[in-house]
Amino acid sequence: MANIFKQKETTFNPEGYIPKHIAIIMDGNGRWAQKKLLPRIAGHKVGMDTVKKITKSASQLGVKVLTLYAFSTENWKRPNDEVSFLMKLPVEFFDKFVPELIKENVRVNVIGYIDQLPTHTQDAVKRAVEQTKDNTGMILNFALNYGSRAEMITAVQEIVKSGMKPEEVTEEVVSNYLMTGSLPKELQDPELVIRTSGEERLSNFLLWQMAYSELYFTDEYWPDFTQDSLKQAIASFQSRNRRFGGIINK
Ligand code: FPP
Repeated sequence: MANIFKQKETTFNPEGYIPKHIAIIMDGNGRWAQKKLLPRIAGHKVGMDTVKKITKSASQLGVKVLTLYAFSTENWKRPNDEVSFLMKLPVEFFDKFVPELIKENVRVNVIGYIDQLPTHTQDAVKRAVEQTKDNTGMILNFALNYGSRAEMITAVQEIVKSGMKPEEVTEEVVSNYLMTGSLPKELQDPELVIRTSGEERLSNFLLWQMAYSELYFTDEYWPDFTQDSLKQAIASFQSRNRRFGGIINK
């Protein structure tokens, strides 16, 4: 019997539709390292190099927003030394990579509870946002200390505080109050969400925004994810029939 859960084998079409907003749950750094008998942080370090490669590839393919889940509100539960390593990564990443981001015309944006991060991490993030603010190409949107439920609670609190009448609260209003509300309107929701490492769950990531996203799961660990892997994910997206609850084909 055909396996209905198996992802279809498809070929990437460079002339085909490229999703404007791609969001990635970069999972499997720890397992990648453990498989090689390395400490978990070695996986995060190589994962950072993958971030650089995939940022460049996505930008060159014409993606408009690339959202990367770099640290969740739940990741504080990890051992202190791993958390402190993860907090240093943005500093290293931005210090070394911003000139290339500028060359690529990429603008850095951040969603998440940034004010709860260590000062050195906050400073690096704010510097990168400032240094790239005039770039007009792809938006590299880092989710750092981000959690979707917390984001929704904050949005509801802000809406209540604004004194808005209940009937004024529309989908558009809620979208604008979420952290992705600062992105251009037509780019706030990811069209394609990728998760690496074989796990098939959403882990409190962009739950409102992915109401109609296409989901793509791959067994590859994040450090092994390549430009070809990205193209494969886009190829799968290109083969799908998006109906948004209706019956008309794309
Ligand atoms: C999930 O793998 C990965 C993370 C929690 C961290 C992701 C961070 C990076 C890829 C580097 C980020 C780079 C910048 C510039 C901020 P895991 O540790 O949960 O892996 P496991 O499931 O195999 O244990």
